[in-house]
Amino acid sequence: MAAANLLTRSLLPALNPHPSSHPNRGSAAAAVSFPRRHHGRLSSVRASVSTASPSPPPQPAAAAGAPKHCFRRGADGYLYCEGVRVEDAMAAAARSPFYLYSKPQVLRNFAAYREALQGLRSVVGYAVKANNNLPLLRLLRELGCGAVLVSGNELRLALHAGFDPTRCCSLFLKFYLLRGMEWIIEQSKCVCIFASGGMPFCCCILFAFWMDYRCIFNGNGKTLEDLKLAAESGVFVNVDSEFDLENIVRAARATGKKVPVLLRINPDVDPQVDIFRDAAILMVNYVDEIRAQGFELEYLNIGGGLGIDYHHTDAILPTPMDLINTVRELVLSRDLTLIIEPGRSLIANTCCFVNKVTGVKSNGTKNFIVVDGSMAELIRPSLYGAYQHIELVSPPSPGAEVATFDIVGPVCESADFLGKDRELPTPDEGAGLVVHDAGAYCMSMASTYNLKLRPPEYWVQTTTDIPFFLVLISWGICKNPPVEEDGSIIKIRHEEKLDDYMKFFDGLPA
Ligand SMILES: Cc1ncc(COP(=O)(O)O)c(C=O)c1O
Repeated sequence: MAAANLLTRSLLPALNPHPSSHPNRGSAAAAVSFPRRHHGRLSSVRASVSTASPSPPPQPAAAAGAPKHCFRRGADGYLYCEGVRVEDAMAAAARSPFYLYSKPQVLRNFAAYREALQGLRSVVGYAVKANNNLPLLRLLRELGCGAVLVSGNELRLALHAGFDPTRCCSLFLKFYLLRGMEWIIEQSKCVCIFASGGMPFCCCILFAFWMDYRCIFNGNGKTLEDLKLAAESGVFVNVDSEFDLENIVRAARATGKKVPVLLRINPDVDPQVDIFRDAAILMVNYVDEIRAQGFELEYLNIGGGLGIDYHHTDAILPTPMDLINTVRELVLSRDLTLIIEPGRSLIANTCCFVNKVTGVKSNGTKNFIVVDGSMAELIRPSLYGAYQHIELVSPPSPGAEVATFDIVGPVCESADFLGKDRELPTPDEGAGLVVHDAGAYCMSMASTYNLKLRPPEYWVQTTTDIPFFLVLISWGICKNPPVEEDGSIIKIRHEEKLDDYMKFFDGLPA
């Protein structure tokens, strides 16, 4: 968790362009102990953790357990994304490298959060920086996510994707038609989720639930221009520092808008221990203090940061349910709306980066698999030594020797690697090789270094989104929802072309 935030309605007048209109103005900043500058240094806040053991949290529902993985090796030895062979996706894409997503896995990951949040007022603010693919954003918006933004362009993109920061609530209907198939209806659009079982074969249960679409603008160096756009759009703005607050006030005055703010507190809690609970206890102490001073306070934001099993060791990692259970009672006891800002845990495991092997070589001491993808398209391993699991998409040729390889790209840099010391069967030229868990902080960090232009993106979908009226008509006529289990591969982003690059120089002096 990068930070925890509080939103107080009573602090809003402090940012009101017409300051004299509120009696609490002036005392608001003092009401919250947000990191203060002492002799040029920022003091941090230490969590005081209660030693009393919390009452037992609700048990995770079956559907909210660890989401099943979308990339699996079939009995035939081929790697599959949902029901589609990755090798077939390579043939369909006709170009390599590319990113391949599972749309159903996005739905399952979101369902795990929604399940965990039942009974709480909440905002699932998707951290757009993790992956800013437009169809992905639209999908997450349809599911009921808000957006967490760190730049003016991310905010513009979110608005373009249909996020409406001023709409705080929308009614969703959820119903089950067939076992394991969950439909969500919002504004006449119907999205089908394959939830994990538990429902009888044919039933129709209707749940109504409210989702809060709030958008949140984070960042420690927000520009005045971007803040003005945020003010115009009605986005919650996270106050990161005193100078940031001054800029927010300027933006509010310039636009004549009231800016809702969250106060960021970086809790000094031990990340090895129960960071979310420790931080939540700290935040709740603040909530009590602030309310005791007569301010109304509504939101508690515990940020993002839930991890995933990058090593594919079947490690038991905290699930969304585990995360929410650590703060559930605190949030309920203070009647707060919980904001979470997941990025990685919503989308990282939905995607593979698919490469083709160019060749295999050795320098006498080390073996290398050279692929067509590189640090330009996926930089996490070379940027911060991140481990992402790597495997071949097809069964090895008979007699292929298993050896230890570094997997490297063609970029002219010693840092150009996707993985080191990986034990793999020696692949043939042209074999497919995937880097797993590439949905978050991979394509969004891609560059065009060495003029390796950004690759295309595809997703595998197992059902099509169907307008609600069609679902009803179909249900009425044939007693069956119109599900197309088509396993189709849909392009969700075009590859960049050299012409796109050339356009940056159009009209400039030769
Ligand atoms: C404030 C804030 N919110 C959300 C996120 C998203 O975190 P993750 O993708 O790990 O869930 C981050 C990550 O850096 C963050 O700093």
